[in-house]
Amino acid sequence: MTDQHRITAAISAVAGERASVRVDGEGRVGVVLDATGLGQAERDALEQRIRVAAGVADLRIVVTAARVERRLIAVASGKGGVGKSTLAANLAIALMRGGRRVGLVDADIYGPSQPRLMGVEGTRPTARDKRLDPVPTPSGVPLLSIGQLVEPGKAIAWRGPMTAGALSQLVDADWGAVDTLVVDLPPGTGDVQITMIQKHRPAGAVIVSTPQDLALIDAARAIDLFRTAGVPIIGLVENMAGYACPRCGELSDPFGQGGAEAAAKALDIPFLGRVPLEIGIRTASDAGQPPALREDRVFAPIAAQIAEWLATN
Ligand SMILES: Nc1ncnc2c1ncn2[C@@H]1O[C@H](COP(=O)(O)OP(=O)(O)OP(=O)(O)O)[C@@H](O)[C@H]1O
Ligand SMILES: [Mg+2]
Repeated sequence: MTDQHRITAAISAVAGERASVRVDGEGRVGVVLDATGLGQAERDALEQRIRVAAGVADLRIVVTAARVERRLIAVASGKGGVGKSTLAANLAIALMRGGRRVGLVDADIYGPSQPRLMGVEGTRPTARDKRLDPVPTPSGVPLLSIGQLVEPGKAIAWRGPMTAGALSQLVDADWGAVDTLVVDLPPGTGDVQITMIQKHRPAGAVIVSTPQDLALIDAARAIDLFRTAGVPIIGLVENMAGYACPRCGELSDPFGQGGAEAAAKALDIPFLGRVPLEIGIRTASDAGQPPALREDRVFAPIAAQIAEWLATN
């Protein structure tokens, strides 16, 4: 085997089809490395492996990368406390289990809750070249949260431009091969929502509501905000729909029933499904073990509709 063949074979062995090797007339080796979808750390590691495998001092590596088309799904509600964060975490996991490469952004500057929900409270993201590296979570969905950028327990009182800057740091982080970013928004129709819409153009929005009339009226406001800005509404999810008593099994409807489905119809948006009010959902969430990680008949069908929507829009 000539030297040239040996080097080419050694490089293919570590980089496969990502590397194409050229040797010029003077025997200098050049590698064009396709790093599409790799994060910076993975790129550096691969480059290093190629250098070791090639075993030549004079090795030129040119790194190229096609842009990964990354789409944002905003999870929003008009009213606070209706279960956006719970939905965002579990839908991210269910979408990942359905085969997408998913990341989670917690954009709630008033009450970031994803670090706890995803079981990584207290972990801080690292940064390189001023770009954040998302924090891996036990679920497999990487996370970046506003809560990871501030001191725990400190109130966040940011003005518009700071909020916008922080959001960009999260969204434009080194997401590597992630193709779908689920964004957990704060409640309402404020600064964060507007920045998200104008600067980061979500592919679509999922609106969460409880069956209560008041929550539904607020949901209509959130829907209007996205619609006016030209962000399609993927659909409405009803959370805390029906309560099964853990002792006697009796079903009750503390917040009414069927309200969200009727509201979705009236507002002419798809109804994606309901999530029951279940103590197990709260306790698993509080323990940093999102219920979608277990047997999941609730979140998976909703995620499947979102995936279907993404495939056709
Ligand atoms: N289906 C459910 N069953 C039981 N508890 C739930 C359910 N959905 C959410 N919860 C609980 O309700 C509380 C509020 O949920 P969550 O934090 O997801 O709401 P949110 O809309 O993100 O709130 P905020 O507006 O404050 O960001 C949490 O304690 C959560 O565990
Ligand atoms: Mg929340």
